[in-house]
Amino acid sequence: MSSSKASASRADLDPARLPTHVAIIMDGNGRWATKRLLNRIQGHEKGSETVRTIVRTCRELGIPFLTLYAFSTENWQRPKIEVDALMALLKRFLVRERRELMDNNIRLQVIGQIDRLPPNVRKVLHQTMTLTQDNTALQLNLALSYGARTEIVEMVRTLAAKARNGLIDPDSITAEMVADHLYTCAIPDPELLIRTSGEMRISNFLLWQIAYAEIFVTPTLWPDFSKEEFLDILKDYQRRERRFGRV
Ligand code: IPE
Ligand code: IPE
Ligand code: MG
Repeated sequence: MSSSKASASRADLDPARLPTHVAIIMDGNGRWATKRLLNRIQGHEKGSETVRTIVRTCRELGIPFLTLYAFSTENWQRPKIEVDALMALLKRFLVRERRELMDNNIRLQVIGQIDRLPPNVRKVLHQTMTLTQDNTALQLNLALSYGARTEIVEMVRTLAAKARNGLIDPDSITAEMVADHLYTCAIPDPELLIRTSGEMRISNFLLWQIAYAEIFVTPTLWPDFSKEEFLDILKDYQRRERRFGRV
């Protein structure tokens, strides 16, 4: 758990020891709304403002990769009214944020089963990715219709097909080859995984990639998650000793 000690500022952080890749399970929008007698969609809308804040903070700090879990393969099972509203919000977000992404040299990428997204969302997604493809300061990966088990199944199918066709020898498959066949093939593993809203679970997010990630769970609901708390977590991260199985 991240504790809320005296708030960190940018000056407290060692720029040389920031994570290269931060991954966040953005949870708690529904509970945030329910607590305020609002509908869940209003929680998702408020949550999209937190996305902007955290993206800006990563950009300011010079963290080069940020992956946000925005919609899981399991989230398709939510009521149609919520799924439709989330897709509409996503579409608006992808258009509205273009200016911000371009002004700040941020590249948008996506991981997940994109084919399952509605065609109108896919269209704006591809437009925004194309528009931002040459930006270099920060890569923002949105996990959309993402599930780690599906990602792993797709990787296994690809490697098995290559083996069947004689392109690879099954005995020569390495961890690097596995990583190269995941959606995240061009991205370093996250060193830091944050989950908001207190749930102590991974919910099918980046199972392979988080093998050695430092995990922080905060009770704060995603719409209430702030730049200050994010800096506190980064500060805490810098205090941790990462041992990777050694002594
Ligand atoms: C996270 O908030 C956003 C998505 C999963 C799309 P939730 O909608 O899961 O919020 P809670 O967990 O019900 O509070
Ligand atoms: C995880 O949150 C998925 C996203 C944040 C997109 P959920 O709310 O769907 O996860 P569970 O149901 O609590 O495991
Ligand atoms: Mg949730």
